Amino acid sequence: MKIKLSEKGPEVSKIIAGVMSWGVWGSNLDPQAMLGLINHYIDLGVNTFDHADIYGHYTTEEAFGNALKLDSSLRSKMKLITKCGINLTTPNRPQFKIKSYSTDKEHILKSVDKSLENFNSDYIDVLLIHRPSPLMNPHEIAEAFSTLKESGKVLFFGVSNFTASQFDVLNSCIELCTNQVEASILHLNPFLDGTFDTCLKNKIVPTIWSPLAGGKVFKEADDRVARILKVVKGLESKYDLHLDQILLSWLMTHPAKLVPVIGTVNKGRISNAVAAAKVKLENEDWFKIWEASTGTEVP
Ligand SMILES: NC(=O)c1ccc[n+]([C@@H]2O[C@H](COP(=O)([O-])OP(=O)(O)OC[C@H]3O[C@@H](n4cnc5c(N)ncnc54)[C@H](OP(=O)(O)O)[C@@H]3O)[C@@H](O)[C@H]2O)c1
Repeated sequence: MKIKLSEKGPEVSKIIAGVMSWGVWGSNLDPQAMLGLINHYIDLGVNTFDHADIYGHYTTEEAFGNALKLDSSLRSKMKLITKCGINLTTPNRPQFKIKSYSTDKEHILKSVDKSLENFNSDYIDVLLIHRPSPLMNPHEIAEAFSTLKESGKVLFFGVSNFTASQFDVLNSCIELCTNQVEASILHLNPFLDGTFDTCLKNKIVPTIWSPLAGGKVFKEADDRVARILKVVKGLESKYDLHLDQILLSWLMTHPAKLVPVIGTVNKGRISNAVAAAKVKLENEDWFKIWEASTGTEVP
């Protein structure tokens, strides 16, 4: 169940637990319920948890940290990913008047200190710049990352939602271990726009947010989803997998070794996702699903 994000990067689980909806942006789990979910993941071999400073309007890291306080042995069993760089307008951050990005050194260092306090931990495993800012200076970001590495506060670094060229520029200043991007059967852009090519070139593993299109793929809302559901359901018995599992396997069949960051808080669905990580789809089945999404055979 483990994979290295890059040659010198961290080993993470092949499925990552996305924590965005655990707090007030979703299920609003209390510390005991969070602890139950963390343990369910860890028992299944999923030891990597994906956060961002902004989740729950800057409250979910701390809520997760409160769950960790209930069992002091947990922190050493897990890898924590978190992100910084987005400024949200919320009563919790009255200093931000409009939504914006900050990727200057001072902001990055302060954000990490706050995340460490929230998690009640003295290190973060992987820090990502959440979104590329039009004002970002890769040399300054690299300087911030070096400072964090030297202090031991952050072990590894990456980015999220970066284009191939934005990734290459920062990666030329400091070694990155992942680009966390949106991809699913309803979001094919990174297969086509060079994002995954750059990951293959640099031998880094992309982590994938909304791998099930945030749940949209389960609601037969339009012709595209109806086509996908028909094809995937037709494959369920062949692979002895459910719809959600086939769609995750479809992503994980890609040679860039995509690692899904799943958002469900349903324990049965979490177990299913882990089982899906063991399956690769046959070539023609992969293309049947691609064709159902694009609505046309490949040229
Ligand atoms: N880097 C970024 O910019 C960024 C952006 C967004 C998200 N993320 C990360 O990615 C993680 C996952 O994102 P996501 O929540 O959009 O991922 P997702 O796994 O694509 O979607 C989760 C949603 O799908 C539903 N779902 C899953 N399996 C289902 C099934 N079999 N039948 C019906 N509904 C099902 C879940 O409902 P139930 O909970 O009821 O199962 C939940 O509402 C987040 O937690 C966060 O860590 C990162």
